[in-house]
Amino acid sequence: MYNIALIPGDGIGPEIIREGKKVIEAASSQYGLEINWIEFPFGAENFLKTGELLPDSALKEIEDMDAIYFGAIGDPRVKPGILEKEILLKARFYFDQYINLRPIRLYKGVPCPLKDKNPEDINFYVVRENTEDFYIGIGGSFKSKANQDYLVLLRKLYKAKIQVDFNLEHEEEMAYQIGLISRSGTQRVIKYAFELAKKKNMKLVTSVDKANVLTNIYGLWRDIFEEVSSQYPDIETEFTFVDAITMWFVRKPEWFKVVVAPNMFGDIITDLGAMIQGGLGIAAGGNINPEGISMFEPIHGSAPKYKGKSIANPIATILAGAMMLDCLGEEKVAQDIEDAVEKVLSEGKVRSHDLGGNYSTIELGDEVVKKLELSL
Ligand code: IPM
Ligand code: MN
Repeated sequence: MYNIALIPGDGIGPEIIREGKKVIEAASSQYGLEINWIEFPFGAENFLKTGELLPDSALKEIEDMDAIYFGAIGDPRVKPGILEKEILLKARFYFDQYINLRPIRLYKGVPCPLKDKNPEDINFYVVRENTEDFYIGIGGSFKSKANQDYLVLLRKLYKAKIQVDFNLEHEEEMAYQIGLISRSGTQRVIKYAFELAKKKNMKLVTSVDKANVLTNIYGLWRDIFEEVSSQYPDIETEFTFVDAITMWFVRKPEWFKVVVAPNMFGDIITDLGAMIQGGLGIAAGGNINPEGISMFEPIHGSAPKYKGKSIANPIATILAGAMMLDCLGEEKVAQDIEDAVEKVLSEGKVRSHDLGGNYSTIELGDEVVKKLELSL
């Protein structure tokens, strides 16, 4: 028996989570698993009504549960950053979910935007660091008196040819945000990436950074990558810069096996990863603390304009549910769900709107359940 915290959230969140839950229940009942869902109302609606985001009392309650199944958050009525930081990121940090595991897999039957690429070409993992880097939330903004010497120098340089239109009392607005990584925080995510490669029998781990410019932060990242990799002599390694890897994801996705990236770059490259696997409707992820409570969610957001229309694709959420069961040690149930999803996608009969079909969110969920039942 598992106790799962359910946070459907905003926009299409409740619709897709409903299908995910339906599929998990159908699959787990076949194996005699019992799931006790504990639903929480957190999200925009609840915030606007009560002023509450994700209270510590709820986090304490969830500490005694087995995992979190999360829909999506984000709502046009709330300024960007509030729900994201105070709900999603708060949970990731509170439970120290230091891995964000995002499989990039093109399933049969899913149209790929890359020319001549097939399912066997797009099948790798991005391991995104999930608690450090530019996400630590340290920053600020201020106004400073512009440096007078600097202004005088500028005037000289321009030799009065150009009219310098600021005066010496000019106040300049500035903002900064700090990116920080720690030795232990970097070590643990890189170690996880190598262990994953070992477990999946994949022979290459690619490190992502921008060590050619952000030399302090990603210089340390590289040092630690080298240290950790020396413990895995059978696994090939390489360094890539984040700008270059976006090109390689498009040009030669078949090259990649396990990619490990700092938090912000990992965020950016996995939206691209989602596109090459056929779209955000398919891309799932897990915020994992291998020693604690993990949280599973689709990579996509709350898509407010599709809310309540039953046209969102629930597949990403269903696959996130499979990842959750896998993480809980129910590998067989997880595999059954993934197989059922693969059947639905490869048959291509019951297609969601994002993949060019006109089946509803509910019909997609029902079809996955049907395939599950047929396979048993
Ligand atoms: C993601 C999202 C989040 C992130 C936002 C919603 C805070 O983009 O899960 O990729 O930046 O991590
Ligand atoms: Mn993102």
